[in-house]
Amino acid sequence: MKLPVISTPLPGPKALEFIRMDSDVVSPSYTRIYPLVAESGEGLWVRDVDGNEFLDFTAGIAVNSTGHCHPKVVESIRDQAGKLIHMSGTDFYYAPQIILAKKLAQLSEMSGGAKVFFGNSGAEAIEAAFKLARYHTGREQNLAFFGAFHGRTMGALSLTAGRSYQRKHYSPLVPGITHVPYPNCYRCPHGACYPNCAAACVAWIEDPLFRTSLPPEEVAAIFVEPIQGEGGYIVPPPEFHVALKKLAEKYGILLVADEIQTGMGRTGKMFAMNHFGVEPDIMALAKGIASGMPLGAMVARSNLMDWEAGSHASTFGGNPISCRAALTTIELLEGGLIENARIRGEQLITGLRELQKSIECMGDVRGLGLMVGVEIVSDRVTRERDPIARNSIILNAFSRGLLLLGCGENTIRFCPALTISAEEVDAGLSIFHEAVRAAGG
Ligand SMILES: Cc1ncc(COP(=O)(O)O)c(C=O)c1O
Repeated sequence: MKLPVISTPLPGPKALEFIRMDSDVVSPSYTRIYPLVAESGEGLWVRDVDGNEFLDFTAGIAVNSTGHCHPKVVESIRDQAGKLIHMSGTDFYYAPQIILAKKLAQLSEMSGGAKVFFGNSGAEAIEAAFKLARYHTGREQNLAFFGAFHGRTMGALSLTAGRSYQRKHYSPLVPGITHVPYPNCYRCPHGACYPNCAAACVAWIEDPLFRTSLPPEEVAAIFVEPIQGEGGYIVPPPEFHVALKKLAEKYGILLVADEIQTGMGRTGKMFAMNHFGVEPDIMALAKGIASGMPLGAMVARSNLMDWEAGSHASTFGGNPISCRAALTTIELLEGGLIENARIRGEQLITGLRELQKSIECMGDVRGLGLMVGVEIVSDRVTRERDPIARNSIILNAFSRGLLLLGCGENTIRFCPALTISAEEVDAGLSIFHEAVRAAGG
């Protein structure tokens, strides 16, 4: 079994130099929690500037779906870079953008067909969905969920309600957004216990919210993550999205699925909404779509795309190189990586649940495919969150050569590339075990 190789103190001497330079010239708003200065990557492995080799269970925040520098993705990028780097899909046509739009429209399986708007990031895909929903419906209000993360631009941030520091000092945000509780069966916001809650999270929107304060005929869209990502890798119960879609249809509200983190095979199906059997009206995609090249896409039912020329566009969005990388990524996903995500995801979650039996601080282990979270608690019975222990586990893992990230207040997320092998899952589990033990778990 290949294992990480850590041959310097962390950070090593070269890394330390870069980190010092960074603190002088790079925005302090970023959230680096350990000093990794990456130099190169291959598959699941990342080498830092001092030659240390890490096993990467972060995939660059769930982005490198095909692993670091997959040779086929690199080949497409090289080929396209030699032909046409940029022309702007806003004012001109070029084949990679059109072919990718056709592919995404097919994959979305939206009834009546779909059309695609391209941007460069997740936030831009959400902004596009936000604008289209208002444009098409002529309605001003929107619903989103507590714990949601939809991005950092003003519109996307207004829909976001994860941690209040993300919104601090940015008011006034875009008006007309109401946040409602997301179904979290480990910490039910309604104090109920699944399955005896009768989908309370959806019922609550209709009554009291629509009955008492928010006229549903003024609501343009409901923005929802199929599985809450940054909020803590929270998987809702199977009935939730079906009930939400039914509610949206009842009042002519559009359902926008933010598949930015959950999409492109990560959960063991192309889109996480496929697990729930729900067809959204609009879907936002980014992250894993192009294996690390910047690309965001907003896919909407064709009949919703009634905005006129000039109403929305992007100079760089749908860049030819990103589109080629996306087409190759999709080929690889369909060629076996989605199935690998399902199988390796099961291996990972089974392994973590096995560890949970003897490790008290692992309060909840949950996930779908390779989107797996472990909540760290100080007490299994009271379920008290333990963000300090969570952070020390992540740091312990780093010092042993395993890259992990947190999400939510006290969750550790496991989102490795979809190319991960059985041996790499085992290696990750064993280092994680050591890291938890070293934190006293
Ligand atoms: C569900 C979800 N939506 C939107 C975003 C924003 O994407 P970006 O950082 O590319 O703007 C993210 C990023 O973490 C995300 O996880």
